[in-house]
Amino acid sequence: MKALVLSGGKGTRLRPLTFTLAKQLIPVANKPILGYVLDQIAETAIREVGLIIAPDTGQYVKEYIKDGSEWGFKVTYIPQEPLGLAHAVKTAETFLREDSFLMCLGDNLQGQGIKHLVKRFEQEKLDALILLKEVEDPTKFGVAVLNEKREVTKLVEKPQKPPSNLAIVGTYLFSNKVHQAIDRIKPSWRGELEITDALQEMINMGLDVKAEVLESWWLDTGKKDDILSANAKILDEYVKKDVKGDVSDSSLEGRIRVAVGAKINNSTVRGPCVIGKNTLVQDSFIGPYTSIGDDAQIINSTVEYCVILEKALIRDVNRLEESLIGKNAKITKSHKTGAIKLHVGDYSEAEI
Ligand code: DAU
Repeated sequence: MKALVLSGGKGTRLRPLTFTLAKQLIPVANKPILGYVLDQIAETAIREVGLIIAPDTGQYVKEYIKDGSEWGFKVTYIPQEPLGLAHAVKTAETFLREDSFLMCLGDNLQGQGIKHLVKRFEQEKLDALILLKEVEDPTKFGVAVLNEKREVTKLVEKPQKPPSNLAIVGTYLFSNKVHQAIDRIKPSWRGELEITDALQEMINMGLDVKAEVLESWWLDTGKKDDILSANAKILDEYVKKDVKGDVSDSSLEGRIRVAVGAKINNSTVRGPCVIGKNTLVQDSFIGPYTSIGDDAQIINSTVEYCVILEKALIRDVNRLEESLIGKNAKITKSHKTGAIKLHVGDYSEAEI
């Protein structure tokens, strides 16, 4: 069995960050989401991994994963114009050949892991196994309907009137029969070849498509608020107290990870929270659920429930909350007039 990880797409909802970063590489708790996805695949016996990459951001994915040896994988990069999830599978056909495969969306993370799904798929010799999760607003997702025997009877992509509250989670297992189904479908109203339509076609073909309902958490990190809640979830789940940097005249409360070379002076840091390598926190308060990347500076400021990427500077800011700050961004106070002075990139959002 192989794995196909989708790290392409457009990332339009996360601009301007996605102008210089693939959306799957936006870090939560200072590690790219894609890294957690690969960690979960590494827990299975799968070692051959195909990575779908987009023409504009693929280089960043390559720089992060390199040859895949960090995870023990043999990696094949597959460039794809973002024309849909089923189009990605079609593009990967020469890599996948006749093998069954696990497909993971590089911006989706779920708390249950993948190992048991692979085992069930193989034991029951299924043609497809999908993961579902009960959600409040199914209109944003692919949606599945199950019958009383818990078999999948119908699938529809982003329905205006959802036939159930079961959203399709970005972890799928397929036999090679999926290729025949993809050959039979047409692009959807949004111009994409949908994997949801391919799954529906597999059901129509009489193939064995099963689903499992996820009991644990699921994070789909498509927008800013999703990144912030993914960050909070990961900080809650994984971060242990580990202070490697220098701390002076400061109070560190709760689970806080401070990387090598970081300096915390005259400040209060309340966990869960992570502070990256060589980052300076000076005369500041860092509140819970905050991740600060490497080489950043937080000076005379209060920051809470934020994701701040590497080399950002936050100085003299009274209260920064629920914010996602990109690499090398500078947020400072104008002392002269009290006026707001901005130099923000295309598609940025500033709430004042
Ligand atoms: O998040 C789960 C949802 O993912 C499912 O419920 C939907 O059924 C499924 O269609 C998908 O919907 P999205 O509209 O959220 O997919 P998105 O465009 O965000 O793409 C998902 C991932 O796949 C993302 O990491 C980018 C990557 N991708 C996407 C497209 C369209 C590719 O690599 N190539 C592509 O052509």
